[in-house]
Amino acid sequence: MDDLGDYDLNKPISGTGLRQGLTSYGDAHFSLFLRKVFIKAAGYGEDALSRPIVGIINTGSGFNPCHANVPQLVEAVKRGVHLHGGLAIEFPTISLHESFASPTSMFLRNLMSMDTEEMIKAQPVDVCVMIGGCDKTVPAQLMGGLSANKPVLPLVTGPMMPGSFRGERIGACTDCRNNWAAYRAGELDIEDIRGINDELAPTVGTCGVMGTASTIACITVALGMMPFGGATAPAVSSARMRIAEETGAIAVATASKIEERRPQTILSKESFLNAITVLQAIGGSTNAVVHIMAIVNRHPDVAGKITLKTFDDIGRKTPLLVDLKPSGANYMNDFHNAGGMLALLHTLRPLLHLEAKTITGETLGEKLDATPFKPFPMSISLIRPLSDPLYPNSALVTLYGNLAPGGAILKAAASKDRHLLEYEGPAVVFENTADLGARIDRDDLEVTKDSVLVLQGIGPIGNPGMPEAGVIPIPRKLHGVKDMLRLSDGRMSGTAGGTMVLHISPESAIVDSTFGILRNGDIIRCSVAERKLEVKLSDGEIEGRVRERKALLQKQGQQCRGKRVVGKRRRGYRGLYESSVNQAEEGADFDFLTAKGAEDDDQRDQ
Ligand code: FES
Ligand code: MG
Repeated sequence: MDDLGDYDLNKPISGTGLRQGLTSYGDAHFSLFLRKVFIKAAGYGEDALSRPIVGIINTGSGFNPCHANVPQLVEAVKRGVHLHGGLAIEFPTISLHESFASPTSMFLRNLMSMDTEEMIKAQPVDVCVMIGGCDKTVPAQLMGGLSANKPVLPLVTGPMMPGSFRGERIGACTDCRNNWAAYRAGELDIEDIRGINDELAPTVGTCGVMGTASTIACITVALGMMPFGGATAPAVSSARMRIAEETGAIAVATASKIEERRPQTILSKESFLNAITVLQAIGGSTNAVVHIMAIVNRHPDVAGKITLKTFDDIGRKTPLLVDLKPSGANYMNDFHNAGGMLALLHTLRPLLHLEAKTITGETLGEKLDATPFKPFPMSISLIRPLSDPLYPNSALVTLYGNLAPGGAILKAAASKDRHLLEYEGPAVVFENTADLGARIDRDDLEVTKDSVLVLQGIGPIGNPGMPEAGVIPIPRKLHGVKDMLRLSDGRMSGTAGGTMVLHISPESAIVDSTFGILRNGDIIRCSVAERKLEVKLSDGEIEGRVRERKALLQKQGQQCRGKRVVGKRRRGYRGLYESSVNQAEEGADFDFLTAKGAEDDDQRDQ
């Protein structure tokens, strides 16, 4: 028994691979022997098994057209891994598409993050390439990968190309909304809308504007986790395949430096500050705020050091530079052709923390030094210089006040009527989306153009899953009004615009939420200059209404769990979700998954 040969746990090899403390069968040497038995059934020889093992998360799914190029990407990553002496093994996790994830993809994001975390921990991978793309998938993977804390390399599927209708470029999903609105207004007929329907998503890949998927892809580059070209190369381009191959190569290099390249080591407070700077400069999706907070709060050393206020502080110093829909006029492939994230990061250099580490071991500053970028006319018109921005600063602002003690978010850059950014008006309150649907277009709705539209019941717990219903439609009777101040505890799509105060916290499904006790006629005040969101009620009036609300809920037989108004206990994932999801400013994560939520004594991978 002295010579354990290939079953010697201490035998030096380039990766830890099958020698990691995985499924235990009692005797560690016997466990390794058994693992080899079973992996050999897949045809791997001893030479292959002595290599660093690079896991590749395959999120291809027939229900996820944003990920329809995943099979080709897997092949390209494998090529990069094998060319550099590693062994690539792919495995599946949950895949989420925005349109095919009922009730919302956000409801399932935390489930995908748990799947990702647990499979990375459970399986014998040294390093893991995580292929994602559609809105919630990359946040879920970053959350799970960060918690698993093995080296991970995100790889996005890339944006789709724009389509064309009667000579005009169109693309999902900013133009989905515009064109449908034009059809409802009688400006387009059914034949037009059929033609447009064929062209809005003309290739595989993620939505081709600066929606949530593109925003998160850009942020992933800013975090130092993906190559510069990784966010913008179109899904159908050869550049996308070369990035996949390069990611495979980086994965193998990473396997020889596992301790230094764990995500909790690479990512620092400065990495997140850079990500938030990029978010402001691209006029990115408000959804990214929730996702970044969820990722931050998974990190034991960064949790608590970044809050919603951090987004506002950075916003005051950061201009909006990138001219892309929905804030501007262009598409993601234009951004790519203009130099993409490499050009933007060079432009933002004075505002960035260049000492932040990246997954290759270099700092962001070292990587930028090694990759110069020379601006050209098209790049300058799309990625503006700091001296000539599209919007001077604070594209996204954070509001606080008695109506949002936990904070609220407003994409000021997307406001269509700027006087609404300093505004006071009476509330018209809708209790939930059903109430909204039933009354918004009625002729007897008591509303004027000066009203403030309020939609309750769409927060993380309330709906559940915090749907993108925050874009409250303008009541039909106010024909011709283009924008109103609108408030909700929900989200809006990254591809939408208007003066929408979102993510109001605590949400109305928290029993003592001020937002939950709003009534018709209450005077709402929103001041972006003061970063305030208030209702003109005294503390005593608010307390009195909360007491009334509690009494009413009790009378209706509606129970609360703690402060959550969720009624009866439900089974399964929904039960887990309703009892564990935290508020938007914390990331709408499950409290037990956050770094501070519980002691993690899981030693499988350490
Ligand atoms: Fe997948 Fe838009 S639907 S990114
Ligand atoms: Mg979306």
